[in-house]
Amino acid sequence: MGSGRLAVIGGGVIGLSCAWRAAADGWTVTVVDPAPRSGASWVAGGMLAPVTEAWPGEEDLLALGVESVARWPAFAAAAGEAAGAPVGLRSDGTIVAATGSGDRAELDALAAYLARLDRPVESLSGRALRRLEPAIGPDVRAGLSVPDDLAVDNRMLLAALQVAGEKAGVEFATRSATGVLTQAGRASGVRCAEGPDVAADVVLVCAGAHSGIVHPALDGLVRPVKGEILRLVRRPGALPAPRRTVRALVDGRPVYAVPRDGDGLVVGATQAEQGFDTTVTVGGVRDLLRDVERVLPGVAEYALLEAAAGLRPGSPDNLPLIGRLGDGLLVATGHHRNGILLTPITVDAVLALLRGEPVPEPVRAADPARFTHGKENPGARVDQR
Ligand code: GLY
Repeated sequence: MGSGRLAVIGGGVIGLSCAWRAAADGWTVTVVDPAPRSGASWVAGGMLAPVTEAWPGEEDLLALGVESVARWPAFAAAAGEAAGAPVGLRSDGTIVAATGSGDRAELDALAAYLARLDRPVESLSGRALRRLEPAIGPDVRAGLSVPDDLAVDNRMLLAALQVAGEKAGVEFATRSATGVLTQAGRASGVRCAEGPDVAADVVLVCAGAHSGIVHPALDGLVRPVKGEILRLVRRPGALPAPRRTVRALVDGRPVYAVPRDGDGLVVGATQAEQGFDTTVTVGGVRDLLRDVERVLPGVAEYALLEAAAGLRPGSPDNLPLIGRLGDGLLVATGHHRNGILLTPITVDAVLALLRGEPVPEPVRAADPARFTHGKENPGARVDQR
């Protein structure tokens, strides 16, 4: 059990989860965020797909994702029980689909890479894919089925996490954090833009793409990577949505569709680095609609409910930054495309750091000291135990 005051800067999926679990562990917790449950966590698709997000050369990230997805069912059950409301976890798996010959070559490369890593994937013809998922159209020539992937309704999850936190005693300061207050080298609170500062014994920075504004050691390490996303819902008479998450390459462009209970479909996502811009563009919406329709032709009859953009917190090596930044100062940010996927393992690591225990093995690679060691002001290097 912990004790003392913890200030969590950022009320997204990572911040709310850490706040809830730390409060249940005995900490007095305040979440500082002008608009909790918004930002990238609100816009996200909720795909929990470490294997199909894998990329050669990113084995540390794959190990982290595989470990985290294994923790997801217990995490979802605990959050749902604490909140008294479900979080919308789905366990139908993922299909990766290819259209043209270039897309198929990329798919073959992904299949070979995953086979080398001993990951369970099955290569299927277009016809076999359509037997599994009749929503997949004739332009899809081949694909992979990945049975172990999960998905979650990010908005149900965020609501449940906030309720779970409130029931555990978490307080919310709906103000902007402008920095971490330090005292004799030790974090002692959060400076706020308006209203009183928040005093704390330990500060946890999980402000996503905005983390660099909160602490100078993160400036330049976490950058905003914009993603546009669409929310669709099937209308009466339209073809049913797929049961599985469908990821596809269409003429080299990635697109994904994540099903929701109630005939919904979340279609994502563009990727652009344009600073803190969250404008939804005509070109982004056009690309997503054109590409998803090539893969799932029935969506042309669906209703378009929402178009939104969020800012993923990108890091220099695509691995998050989870660990100690200094005395009394923890960080859990830089999760880029994988914030929701990596939530359970991130929370377990933060809880371990608060208790003075070793972090789970795959989190060692995410120690922020790989970037901040020797940088001015983050505090002495503290090895991830
Ligand atoms: N994880 C999917 C995305 O960032 O678009």
